[in-house]
Order: sequence, then C-alpha cells, then structure tokens
Amino acid sequence: KMNKQTEMSDSAERKPHAVLLPFPIQGHINPLFKLAKLLHLRGFHITFVHTEYNHKRLLKSRGPNALNGLSDFHFETIPDGLPTTDDDADVTQDVGLLCKAVRENLLTPFCDLLARLNRSATPVTCLVSDLIMTFAIEAAQELSLPFVLFSTSGSGFLLSILHFGTLFDKGLIPLKDESYLTNGYLDTKVDCIPGMKNFRLKDLPAFIRITDPNNFMVEFLIEVADNVHRASAILLNTFDELESDALNALSSMFPSVYAVGPVTSLLHQSPPSPLDSLGSNLWKEDAECLEWLESKEAKSVVYVNFGSIAVMSPEKILELAWGLANSKRPFLWIIRPDLVIGGSEILSPEFVNEISDRGLIASWSPQEEVLNHPSIGAFLTHCGWNSTVESICAGVPLLCWPFYADQPTNCRYICSELGIGIEIDTNVKRKEVEKVVNELIVGEKGKEMRQKAMELKKKAENNTRLGGGSYVNLEKVIGEVLLKQN
Ligand code: UDX
Repeated sequence: KMNKQTEMSDSAERKPHAVLLPFPIQGHINPLFKLAKLLHLRGFHITFVHTEYNHKRLLKSRGPNALNGLSDFHFETIPDGLPTTDDDADVTQDVGLLCKAVRENLLTPFCDLLARLNRSATPVTCLVSDLIMTFAIEAAQELSLPFVLFSTSGSGFLLSILHFGTLFDKGLIPLKDESYLTNGYLDTKVDCIPGMKNFRLKDLPAFIRITDPNNFMVEFLIEVADNVHRASAILLNTFDELESDALNALSSMFPSVYAVGPVTSLLHQSPPSPLDSLGSNLWKEDAECLEWLESKEAKSVVYVNFGSIAVMSPEKILELAWGLANSKRPFLWIIRPDLVIGGSEILSPEFVNEISDRGLIASWSPQEEVLNHPSIGAFLTHCGWNSTVESICAGVPLLCWPFYADQPTNCRYICSELGIGIEIDTNVKRKEVEKVVNELIVGEKGKEMRQKAMELKKKAENNTRLGGGSYVNLEKVIGEVLLKQN
C-alpha cells in the first residue's frame, strides 16, 4: 500500500517533459523557442536542443549566462554534422548544406540524447520537431513518443511542398531552361493546388525555380512532405484569418492540423515568467536602435531588414541606399555583417553624410521591439514568415522584396490576399524605392494598408487570448496529443 502511495506522489510531482528540436537557423529557432516557453508556462519540463555551432554563437551574442535556463527548462547540444568553422564565425550556415548535413548526421546523436533524457528522473513525454526535421520521427518511434511537427512558416508553404510532386506530374516543373525564369513562364497560373486559388508559379516557394529534376532542395522537401502524415499532429505559426483557404485545405488533408499562431502574440498575452529575458538571437542586438527611434515622429520611420539569410549584390545595396536617402524619410536599416556579397563597406562617405540627420544603420536589431515602436511607419522586408507575422502583430504595413524560399509565397499573401503591402520589382531601382517608401509612409495607399494591418493585428490578438482560436488549439494539442500516452 505504502509503495502505491509513494508512486502516486512521485508521478503527481513529475512534470511532462517535452523535447524541442528546431532546424538550426534563426528564422526557425525563434518561433520554436517561443513555443517552448509557452509549453513551459503550461507546466512542461522543457529540453531545447541547439546545435553546437549555434550554442557557441548564443554564448557569444548573449553572454555566458545566455543558456542558463531553469531547472525545468534546459538546453542540450548536438553536432550539426557540418565541418567546424572557426569560433569567430558570425554567419548563417549554407542552408542547403545544413539540410543535407542534419539529415545525414543528426539522427544518431539525437537518438542517443533522447534515450539519455528518457532515463533521467523526468522521462520524455513527447517530441516537438521543426517541420523540416521530419526525419526525427524515427527517434520518437523508438521510444513510442507522440511526435508533433511545428511548421515555422505559413500554411501556404506547407501546402505548396505537399504538391511539389503534382507539379512534376503535370510537367510544370522543372523549367525547360534558365530562360524560363525571365520569359514570362513563371506567370503561369497553377490550378492544381486547392486552397491557393489564382496563385502563379512565381508565387510558389522559390525552390521550384529549377532546371535540374534531381535538385537537392526539392527532393529534400518532397521527402519532408512524404513524412508529414506520420506525425501525431502538425502545428502552424499562423491563425485562421491570415490564410484560411490554405489552412482549410490542409485540414482536409490531415486530421490533426492546428493553427497556434502567432506564437509571439500568445506569449505576449501570457503571465510574466522568469524566462522572459531569455532570448534566442544569434547576433548581438544593437540597443541604439530603440533609443534612436525615440527621437522620431509617430509612424514616420521605414524599418529595413532582410532577416538572417538573404544576401545582396553591392549594386542592389546602392540602389536601395539612394532610394532611401532620396525619399527624405527617416529610416533604420539593418545591415548584417554578412548581408552584402563582397563586404558591406560600399556605402560612400557622401551617402553617410547625406543621411546623417535621418538614417541609422545597425548590424542587428531587437526586431519585435523595433516593429512595436510608435515611430515605425513601414517595414521594408524580404518577407520571411517571422518578419511577416511580427509586422502584422505590430500593425505595420510592408514593402516586399522577396528573395527565395517561402518569401514569394508570403509576399503574395501580404500584397494580394491581405492587401497590407506593396511589392518592389526585383530589379530594384532607386526611383522606385523612393516612390514606394513615400506611398506607404505618407500616401493614401499607405493609410489604407496601415488600417488593414491594424485590423489583422486585432485578429491576431483575438486568436491568441483566452478562448481565441489559436489559444484553444494549443490547449487541445496539449491535451489530445502531447500528453497522450501511446
Ligand atoms: C528563414 C527564411 O529565410 C524565411 O523565408 C522563413 O520563413 C523562415 O526562415 P529569415 O530569412 O531569417 O528566416 O527571416 P524571418 O522569418 O523573418 O526570421 C528572422 C527572425 O530574426 C525574426 O524572428 C526576426 O525578429 C529576427 N531578427 C532579424 C531580429 O531579431 N533582428 C534582426 O536584425 C533581424
């Protein structure tokens, strides 16, 4: 009898243990880290898994205490499988190589880690993995754990990759040759993806712009898509009103699809936690950005940032620089150390002098705080999904300059489906930059788009407060999937 009681009190104290495995780049780490905090707030013991490379970078950017969590929120590291670079490296690893490396090398150390954690005083209850890391399902299956995928991108991205095979079958991809990139072919309407009506080839994730049928990234993503149905549930960092058609299409394909976003908004509306100060930025944030914004008028500043991966030619940088300068609007421009191909020392003293009274250039910003600052009037962005969602949560309209990956798809949602942004031609010219900046900051179009962005911000908040769609979905997935014994 005694024994039974002891057992019961042990299990009553024992927290459920969720292990979270992000794809190891900034745009994937951030939202998964927020999900980890949300689960912690709901009583989970958390293990968050970083690669050794990113672990080193976090210690460098955030100081030696960066990874001191709590006794029930801790970090583990595993190798990413790429050859080691020197300790000072401050750059995003090549995403294609990283996909290859993690797929080939990560599973064994990860299975070992999971087995070790499972033998600890707090055995593992469930595994939450980035969508891109579907191969981790093998690790979950070995221990019969619920396996949940978290898509850090939108529903449109997941829906697209689920149909890559169809695009091949219909002969829409690969492209016949490189000329098809520019000869108008990408304007072809795609009518074989239910939930993405009137999308053109150019609106689909840029991974499809291939001439080689054996392109690695496309094969990799098709493999991801093939594995998706093996998950116990799929979570998306989105909310219903953002892409309801795509979300409905996904729900009709899989029984367990949950929109739980924006996770940033869920977290924002949560009670305070000792984890609040624990961040996940791999670069050191420049505090000057916020101070500088203090001196600017409401909704007057253009915030320019291309995320953690995009790189640009010096020619494009110059067109952008002079477009911003000639607009005469104040701007905050984040130039990552590795943004410009060949180095960022291309802005002339003449330019620096010209903008000194109204422009600030910094190397990395606390982006969400910046976007929520009252001085921000518009966001010139590469349309990464996090940037898109963070801008919406701040009610800020966008100027879209998509580069690759899911960015063209996100741009399509922003500009055509939601009407909260203007697309900039990829052959960016300074005159155009000047024009669209003014259109968004002081023009009529800008006013309308800001209004719509504010409405979406409210919808995001409604979804993530007690009883809202995303809030309820997170509760459901916890009760029905994460805590369910297999
Ligand atoms: C990548 C892909 O490129 C993107 O298309 C995909 O949707 C997610 O993964 P990335 O290019 O880095 O992401 O862009 P984004 O999704 O916008 O994520 C960047 C993150 O870093 C955001 O959370 C942003 O707030 C943060 N950030 C970026 C900063 O905090 N400061 C900066 O100066 C720049």
